[in-house]
Amino acid sequence: MTADLIISNIGSLISLVGSNKPRSGKEMESLGMVTDAAIAIKDGLILALGNSADINLRFQSSVVIDAKDKVVLPGFVDCHTHPIFVHTREDEFAMRIAGKSYVEIARAGGGIRSTIASTRDASEELLFELAARRIQKMISQGTTTIEAKSGYGLDTKSELKQLRVIKRLINELPIDIIPTFMGAHEYPAEYKNDHEAYLKILCEEMIPAVAEQGIAEFCDIFTEEHVFSIDESRRVLQCARDHGLKLKMHADEIEPIGGAELAAELGCVSADHLGATSNAGIIALHKAGVIPVLLPATLFSLRSKTYARALDMISQGLPVAIATDYNPGSCNCDSMPFTMTLACLQMGMNPAQALIASTINAAHAVNRGGKLGSLEAGKQADLCIWDIPSLNFLPYHFGSSNLSKVYKMGKCIYSADEA
Ligand code: NIG
Ligand code: FE
Repeated sequence: MTADLIISNIGSLISLVGSNKPRSGKEMESLGMVTDAAIAIKDGLILALGNSADINLRFQSSVVIDAKDKVVLPGFVDCHTHPIFVHTREDEFAMRIAGKSYVEIARAGGGIRSTIASTRDASEELLFELAARRIQKMISQGTTTIEAKSGYGLDTKSELKQLRVIKRLINELPIDIIPTFMGAHEYPAEYKNDHEAYLKILCEEMIPAVAEQGIAEFCDIFTEEHVFSIDESRRVLQCARDHGLKLKMHADEIEPIGGAELAAELGCVSADHLGATSNAGIIALHKAGVIPVLLPATLFSLRSKTYARALDMISQGLPVAIATDYNPGSCNCDSMPFTMTLACLQMGMNPAQALIASTINAAHAVNRGGKLGSLEAGKQADLCIWDIPSLNFLPYHFGSSNLSKVYKMGKCIYSADEA
């Protein structure tokens, strides 16, 4: 049979072949590794993979890529990012080092609110150019799918503008991008003393417009003591669900206020952060089948002494995912390999668990588990060739990259030789 492309001479191919459900328990350590392997690709999808001799016997192609005995892994799915903004906030980084907390900085007029004015003023062209550059950097670190949120406009016009920018990114960049509406990222300054008025705008204007334009798949909200309360969050998310949007939450990042329990009650696809979630919260997520998306780089950047309880979640049967939370404030990290390093060192996940959390479980967190996230026949050929001796080397060696090539649907979209 003829393939468009064969990648051969792969030293170790880590396919993550397995169940079509999010991976939990022992499945989070099952790598599906084949040594001396090859992959046959056609129309952007994987035809077959396995031992080199077997693949070379069954498939021919005029394009054969020599992986030079290196390691092939699925491309990363960064399932939680905020890349649509203008200016960065490195001064807040310096303030945190000087002893101020994220919440203190936000209450003093910094934080999310300080990103609003420049986002509202910016042209779509500028927002597109800046976000495209940021996403290129993610690709150059092995990311082949991202979720991207609005949430720095906080009025109907500017939120829709951000979502149009994401739509253009979807059309023009070579990776999958899943659009999320996050008008409930913060109360804008003009409504800080009138939450009811902003909640009305969210539910009566923004969510209906977003749904009508079909411009977002998910609705997300920042549920935390200093932003949206549990009752306010329930109201916004129920409205989004009624309008056909799937749900995500920023839940229990800093305080355990019952965010995980609400995510379970509402059937969110994922509950993200969970740095301070209670035992009851973990049990509720498990019962409701909500995927926990842990963001260790954020807590690292906030100088937290504690992290989300990844191992407790895994031992209770939760299919943990991890993501960067790339944003201009709490976490300016665009690297999934570094996030894996933190997942290992700060949360105690082993490299296999960290890889599965970064790929197939993250794909399920954005409803793409059937199409991508692992290397299996029929799935997208989204993969990376790494110049490393083994998977363990990837989180072990941090601070510089060992990535050779990135393929998205069978096309090379990054090559270190040409970088
Ligand atoms: O996920 N937690 C809320 N939102 C972002 C922070 C965004 C910002 O500080 O600009 C986060 O950490
Ligand atoms: Fe976030």
